[in-house]
Amino acid sequence: TAAQFDTGLLSGKTVFITAGPTREALDPVRYISNHSSGKMGYALAQAAVDAGARVKLISGPVNLPAPPRMERVQVQSAQDMLAAAMDGIDSCDIFIAAAAVADYRPTAVSEHKLKKGAEEIMELRLVKNPDIVASVAALPRKPFTVGFAAETRDLLSYARSKLERKNLDLIVANDVSQPGIGFNSDENAVTLVSRDAALVLPQTSKRQLASQLIRQIAELYNRAP
Ligand code: CTP
Ligand code: CA
Repeated sequence: TAAQFDTGLLSGKTVFITAGPTREALDPVRYISNHSSGKMGYALAQAAVDAGARVKLISGPVNLPAPPRMERVQVQSAQDMLAAAMDGIDSCDIFIAAAAVADYRPTAVSEHKLKKGAEEIMELRLVKNPDIVASVAALPRKPFTVGFAAETRDLLSYARSKLERKNLDLIVANDVSQPGIGFNSDENAVTLVSRDAALVLPQTSKRQLASQLIRQIAELYNRAP
């Protein structure tokens, strides 16, 4: 199939991609996480390799095999994901943040399994996690930086404000309120939002969408000053 041919759009380029959920430990047997399957990030990594890039896939815990012809670094927490993202970042030309990073983690990880108490209500204290894509985009020599915006309402306005706030070059706006697309599904539909334009990529398989996204990203990257 077409995807097996090296399109060469990204030959000689290094692409880092975050994918999947993070897991934020509470104690040795429990964690906070989300339903991200990692499929979109893995499909993007595959499409980037097919376009000739050297790819580092930084993956939270998912049920997907390591794709061929790329480096996969497996992580658990957002803090681990940030460290893996920053490792070798000087060599990164394009950074794509497809991971569903937990926004908060428990303030402390209990060394031992937490025991059930007598009280009916139990309160958890959480602390904000570092923003990985914003940290990358804040670097003095930042790579071309692409984020995702998962929203259930006001898709484009939230996406635009994330683009600005995180200093991104491009944001992939993803309406996660629609059944059958996005989170944990095999298909997706997105709107690409850059500083001066928006482009709709209609519903299709994540594999098809990934190669369209990589083509658009490569075009914008090659046009960037
Ligand atoms: N992201 C990240 N690190 C975080 C949180 C988010 O790198 N700690 C990245 C995601 O991978 C995605 C983008 O930021 O590319 C937007 O994530 P999203 O959850 O939509 O936005 P938030 O800034 O976390 O805002 P909110 O969840 O409140 O909408
Ligand atoms: Ca978030």
